[in-house]
Parts: sequence; structure tokens; C-alpha cells
Amino acid sequence: MQIENMVETDDIQRELTSNGRGLPILRGISFSVMSGEWVALTGPSGSGKSTLLGILAGIDRPTSGSVRVAGFEITNQTEGQLAHFRNEMIGIVFQSFNLISTMTALENVEAPMYIHPNRREARDQSMDMLRQVGLSDRLHHLPHQLSGGEQQRVAIARALVTRPQVLLADEPTGNLDSSTSKQVMQIIEDMHSRLKLTIIVVTHDASIAARADRCLHMMDGKLASPEPVQPPPLYFKKASA
Ligand SMILES: Nc1ncnc2c1ncn2[C@@H]1O[C@H](COP(=O)(O)OP(=O)(O)O)[C@@H](O)[C@H]1O
Ligand SMILES: [Mg+2]
Repeated sequence: MQIENMVETDDIQRELTSNGRGLPILRGISFSVMSGEWVALTGPSGSGKSTLLGILAGIDRPTSGSVRVAGFEITNQTEGQLAHFRNEMIGIVFQSFNLISTMTALENVEAPMYIHPNRREARDQSMDMLRQVGLSDRLHHLPHQLSGGEQQRVAIARALVTRPQVLLADEPTGNLDSSTSKQVMQIIEDMHSRLKLTIIVVTHDASIAARADRCLHMMDGKLASPEPVQPPPLYFKKASA
């Protein structure tokens, strides 16, 4: 069955408790992302982007509100169900790569496949993912033997090796120079179209956001403009003056 909306949220609120007082971090977030859509999430530092991404990934829970991914409500799942959901449905990439430093590129990519019943298949699938991100010649390198761009490509392969439907990326190019950023975004976009992924990418980079199908802008724990309104062309203003 083809699901029309891959991600649907309804009035997500997230509060932290600070000195016994509730501190609102997300203040009523509602939006939908269609299956196969590529959405950029922008907004100033501290506006709640990472918190929102963590909730969509099932890493964090909202204080209230609903989050449906592929039609499943994830907010009322047990920890075990959420772990399963993260492993099956979601790939996530962070700014700081988050590779395990003592494991090779191949071992890092293979790690999320620990529950795979067939070790041989798990290894082949991991090698294939590394090939798809252009790292077939780096399989046995440790993270510190790889450049930043290569480490992020390993992280992308690891995020996608379980064939999730949704890729979430939190400033994936935030630690990379501009030409490496372009290469990494190109790989994310190639994977998006090749694997028919739904992707949500947090970014500060306007040139990356401009490539998305749609941009959601956060401000102070809310969506500033869920559906951006085009300003009227200047000549309309002139004609009505
Ligand atoms: N564990 C935490 N403890 C206290 N405050 C937090 C914590 N995590 C996030 N915050 C606060 O929540 C707000 C949103 O943070 P975050 O989601 O990281 O924003 P962004 O990713 O847009 O920079 C910020 O004001 C931040 O200081
Ligand atoms: Mg952040």
C-alpha cells in the first residue's frame, strides 16, 4: 500500500523542566510530509529543530501531541517497540557523524544489522551501501583514517543499510567545508531518488534549503510559515496603488 503522508504531526508540544518550572521547547507543531518528499527544516539556533527531529525519530517523546510515521502513531509505543521502529523505519544522520571510533567503516555500517538472521547477507548489504556512497576502497579504514566527508558518507550508509523509508539529517554538512558539503548533499539527494526516500534535512545553508521540494521554517518552538506564501509581484502592488 502506498502511504500518502509518510510523516504527520499534530500539535506537538515538548516541555523541559528547569528548576521545577516547565520550559516550553516546542509549542504546537503540526505538519505533514508526503511520501518521497524532500523537506528542508531551517530556523535559528535554539528554535527547536533538533528537538523536533529527535521526536520524529522516536529518540525523544513529546509532552503532548501526535506523531504518525507511515501511518503508525509512535507516541504511545513502548521502548521496545520504539527501538524496533527506529531500526526499521528511520535512518538518522548527525552533524558530528557519530561513528564508533574503534570500528572500521564496514563494521560501523553493519552495526544496525545486528538482528539480521543471515550474517553473510548483512555483510553483503553493508558493502553494497558503502559502494553506493563511493567508499568501496575504504571498507577497512577506521573513522580517524577517513576525511570528514568520508566519515559522513559512512554515516549515511549506516543510516540507510536497514532500508528505512525516512531519512532524518541534523545539519549533516555542518562540520564540512563547502565543496565537501556539496558532495555529501549530492549523495543524500541521489539516495533520496534512488531509494524513494522521504527526507527531512535540518540545515543553515540557504543553497541546500533551496534544493528541497519544500522548506519548513522554525522560530521559537513553532513553525513560522507551514506553507510559505509567495509575496505578490511588485506590479500588482503598483496596479492597485
Ligand atoms: N537537554 C536540554 N536541557 C535544557 N535545554 C535544552 C535541552 N535540549 C534543548 N534545550 C533547549 O531547547 C531549545 C531548542 O533546542 P534545539 O532543539 O537543540 O534547537 P536547534 O536544533 O534549533 O538549535 C534551546 O533553547 C535549547 O537550549
Ligand atoms: Mg540543532
